[in-house]
Amino acid sequence: MDKIRLGDKTFKPYISEEKIAAAVSEIAEKLNAKYEDANEVPILLCVLNGSLIFTADLMKKLKFNVELCSIKLSSYDGLASTGDVREVMGLTSDVKNRTVIIVEDIVDSGRTIKNLQEILKRHEVKKSEVCTLILKPEALIEDVKLDYVALEIDNKFIVGYGLDYNELGRNIPSLYILES
Ligand code: IMP
Ligand code: MG
Repeated sequence: MDKIRLGDKTFKPYISEEKIAAAVSEIAEKLNAKYEDANEVPILLCVLNGSLIFTADLMKKLKFNVELCSIKLSSYDGLASTGDVREVMGLTSDVKNRTVIIVEDIVDSGRTIKNLQEILKRHEVKKSEVCTLILKPEALIEDVKLDYVALEIDNKFIVGYGLDYNELGRNIPSLYILES
């Protein structure tokens, strides 16, 4: 596979579509084991925009009744987190007294998840869990509990499968890493 150019940066192939699909299935199986016989309908919370593709692929593999809610948060500018998490669009449905499964594309500093958990608390959820496709363990600074993590990567900038560099690259089906 070839390198790609997005704006002023070059990225090289990193994680294949096959490997991503296996990671998504692994998370789906864990959620199925937990919720298939549960007496409740949880809400999947898609953290837009990055988590759009992961949420869609994950949802198709869930074998229990589930509702979908979205929120749009933003903290990244170019290659780095600004440290300031903005709520660009609020929760699209009522989560009061509900079990919410947060679906994140990638956890970096952990600030987005921390912020989200505070938002959910204000909306009086019953319980929330976090599932993320990717974790950068070396970048994590917040003390957050991650219930389901599919892939761990080095502290490098990646794009594709929903993840962007200045809004570009979200449509690429596999993951690419910044060429250093
Ligand atoms: P955190 O708040 O620092 O944990 O950052 C989480 C958010 O930043 C993710 O939901 C992504 O939207 C974005 N992000 C973190 N790392 C990357 C990356 O390597 N590429 C693209 N976006 C990223
Ligand atoms: Mg995100």
